[in-house]
Amino acid sequence: MSRRTDFLHFALPLIEKEELREVEDTLRSGWITSGPKVKRFEEEFADYVGTRHAVAVNSCTAAMHLSLDAIGLKSGDIVFTTPYTFAATAEVVRYFKARPVFVDIDPETFNMDPQKLEQTILKTGLGKDNKAAMRAVIPVHIAGLPCELDAIHAIARRYGLKVIEDAAHALPARYKGALIGGLSDLTCFSFYATKTLTTAEGGMICTADGELADRCRIMSLHGVSRDAWKRYSCEGSWFYEITEPGFKYNMTDISAALGLQQLRKCGRMLQMRQEIAGRYTAAFSDLPEIEAPRVSGDNQHAWHLYIIRLNLDRLSCGRNEFIEQLKEEKIGTSVHFIPLHLHPYYRQKYGYVPHDFPAAYELYNRVVSLPIYPAMSGRDVDDVIDAVRRVAKQNRKTPAISSRAHI
Ligand SMILES: Cc1ncc(COP(=O)(O)O)c(C=O)c1O
Repeated sequence: MSRRTDFLHFALPLIEKEELREVEDTLRSGWITSGPKVKRFEEEFADYVGTRHAVAVNSCTAAMHLSLDAIGLKSGDIVFTTPYTFAATAEVVRYFKARPVFVDIDPETFNMDPQKLEQTILKTGLGKDNKAAMRAVIPVHIAGLPCELDAIHAIARRYGLKVIEDAAHALPARYKGALIGGLSDLTCFSFYATKTLTTAEGGMICTADGELADRCRIMSLHGVSRDAWKRYSCEGSWFYEITEPGFKYNMTDISAALGLQQLRKCGRMLQMRQEIAGRYTAAFSDLPEIEAPRVSGDNQHAWHLYIIRLNLDRLSCGRNEFIEQLKEEKIGTSVHFIPLHLHPYYRQKYGYVPHDFPAAYELYNRVVSLPIYPAMSGRDVDDVIDAVRRVAKQNRKTPAISSRAHI
């Protein structure tokens, strides 16, 4: 089989005529920053995931920062999360000079292991009077596979922790039938360009708690008592008051225009990703060099990412070489994630060594994320399958002949 001639990008958004029309309508309307479309997007999003309040912001990073502010995180406090995530999840804790304490993952799911969460909480609280400083846990639904929320909620209740979900990958994902977005104190989504719903850059905070939502809303726009929309619309007034030194995290109507149309096709886009995931899993099932991602019967995977694990003991090459060979086949890939405790900042700040989180470290060395997005054609999917199979076979280790074989 022949190789592709053009490079297949790792991720591309699906932008169709509906998004183009809605954005054009916004540009022509004269109201291009936070206004009526943001309001509609918030209402429709809250409705879609089944929660009371949704606050649109300009990133998931902003959403998590505002969520931690809303629960009253203070300098010196502790927030539990995993090292197997993107920079944003822990850096927002550092914004407060609070401490992110890492919990290792379940190597089957890449998500926080609830048993290890409780062990880490007990270890963190031992012998010190710092139990009161343990404030929150941020579980991350890696790739779009929901975490064990029942167990995490039970532990959080036991130790008085707030639960803020990092749901950057998890739209639309279901935990035991219920959509992620209405299950914890606060849930934060990302609408970055490569995510399952995109507004170019953007994020959403979902909560059932009106006070938390109000605080997030006020702090998302300089801590002023009313937003620009209310000030400049015909029923508004010029007067405003600064109640806190807030941030500049508001979403624009141009972004919300994209979001409104993307939300309408969320189900269809999920179906397309499910089909690609199904094809990959079937195509790799006879390759002992590759482990496909786990799915659970109870939960709906959002398939933001399709992460394969290489069985390195069956390959004569390492993960990096595997990626290089896929690149030669003109297939774009990525690695999710370089665990946070391996990065210089966290190593130097907290003295971490790679084996402090053995599951995260071991997985990191053998993962490859393959392209999975609705804008891929059937032919693109075939090309990825062919390339992965070819690279796996080319690097297949010849089994060592054991002495027993000669008997
Ligand atoms: C797990 C996770 N959390 C948070 C973020 C941050 O999202 P944003 O770029 O919208 O701030 C990302 C971005 O890729 C992510 O992968």
